Amino acid sequence: MLSYLIEFSNFMLRWLHVIAAIAWIGESIYFVMLDNGLKTPKDENCRKKGVFGEMWAVHGGGFYHNQKYATSPEKLPDDLHWSFWKAYTTWLSGFALFIILYMVNPDFYLVNPNSNWEWAAHMTGWQANVLALTFLLLGWVVYNEMCKRISPNMERDGLLSIGVAIMMVVVAYLSTQMFSGRAAFLLTGAVMATAMSANVFFWIIPGQRRIVKAMKAGETPNPLDGKRGKQRSVHNTYFTLPVVLLMISNHYSFAYSHAYAWVIMALLIFAGALIRQYFVLMHAGKIQPGYPVAGVLLIMVAFWIGMPSTQQANSATESGPDIADVQTVIEQRCVACHAQSPTQPGFSAPPAGFAYDNLNQILHHKESIQQVVASGYMPLGNMTNMTDEERALIEAWSE
Ligand code: HEC
Repeated sequence: MLSYLIEFSNFMLRWLHVIAAIAWIGESIYFVMLDNGLKTPKDENCRKKGVFGEMWAVHGGGFYHNQKYATSPEKLPDDLHWSFWKAYTTWLSGFALFIILYMVNPDFYLVNPNSNWEWAAHMTGWQANVLALTFLLLGWVVYNEMCKRISPNMERDGLLSIGVAIMMVVVAYLSTQMFSGRAAFLLTGAVMATAMSANVFFWIIPGQRRIVKAMKAGETPNPLDGKRGKQRSVHNTYFTLPVVLLMISNHYSFAYSHAYAWVIMALLIFAGALIRQYFVLMHAGKIQPGYPVAGVLLIMVAFWIGMPSTQQANSATESGPDIADVQTVIEQRCVACHAQSPTQPGFSAPPAGFAYDNLNQILHHKESIQQVVASGYMPLGNMTNMTDEERALIEAWSE
């Protein structure tokens, strides 16, 4: 009953999380497009009122006329539209999902028994939970300190971007060493997503509140508040594509179970940022196909690195192993979890929908079985102590 309850909450939370994220990212992409697509107003009266850019748009059968004021409009209306709940809802639902998906079963989902780091391979579930939370928190602290120290007056934002890019490579590397591959991809995405939400919560919204307050009091707002809001929302713009990729990565074990998973992850993060850059420039009327081409090249390098090696399969015996042996291994190492009625505590249904109760099901799922066994992703956390010989046997099974 408990595991059913957890599964069902997972399902509903995921729904909420995806919807909130779509709304947030959609709005954020819209505003970047708007900001970059503004044209100098044709009407002189508008310019006199302080309008610095405008956009005419047609949508849903109506015409829209957006105007952006460089400084303060003469009178600020009381019913300003603010955007923050979408960001907060996305983070909160994402964090709740992380708790029920990973932190309830850290031994399976967080600990990486194959880690090169001895201490990480032998962490207890609780240690892994604490480490994961610390990782998220430190991610924000380091990022935020970098912003404050490298470009406090937003005059060295280029250097800062390089710093943030290097930081993300380090995050990708550390996460894959300390946590299971799936969790590593998710946590790297979560470090970026936390920075995005915290940027909104700690800097963008409070800065906007100070600006509005000053304007209402008839004072000149501190220009740094505006500039900092911009700096942080620019970072958020480049985080969006990589974050979405890492959040949907959890079924692609070829990527996260690879020995160089962190390189694959870093390449895909940069590919996402480059492709985003193309659209940012495109909205400003600059078409620079070099960016997406570079992005696709990085994706191709990731593809090449992730390609399964055929060496092991070739070195196997010509005839391949007996199917009865394959079935025995799967029964011993997989079926505790992957059965219609799993016997492994904590599982109420076959995980990921895969059950291997009989030979037909095993034959039917041959490809995916070989893939997850070869990458080392399954058995999950090697809970069932599969040996290297058994792994080789599954990989060599050809008919
Ligand atoms: C301790 C329980 C457990 C054991 C043992 C186990 N699995 Fe899994 N398996 C899971 C869970 C949980 C998932 C879902 C994880 C996910 O969503 O990525 C899963 C997912 C899978 C998937 C789908 C992967 C994907 O997301 O595309 C395959 C295929 C799979 N297992 C095969 C196997 C094979 C083959 C074995 C035996 C060698 C095995 N598993 C042993 C728990 C287990």
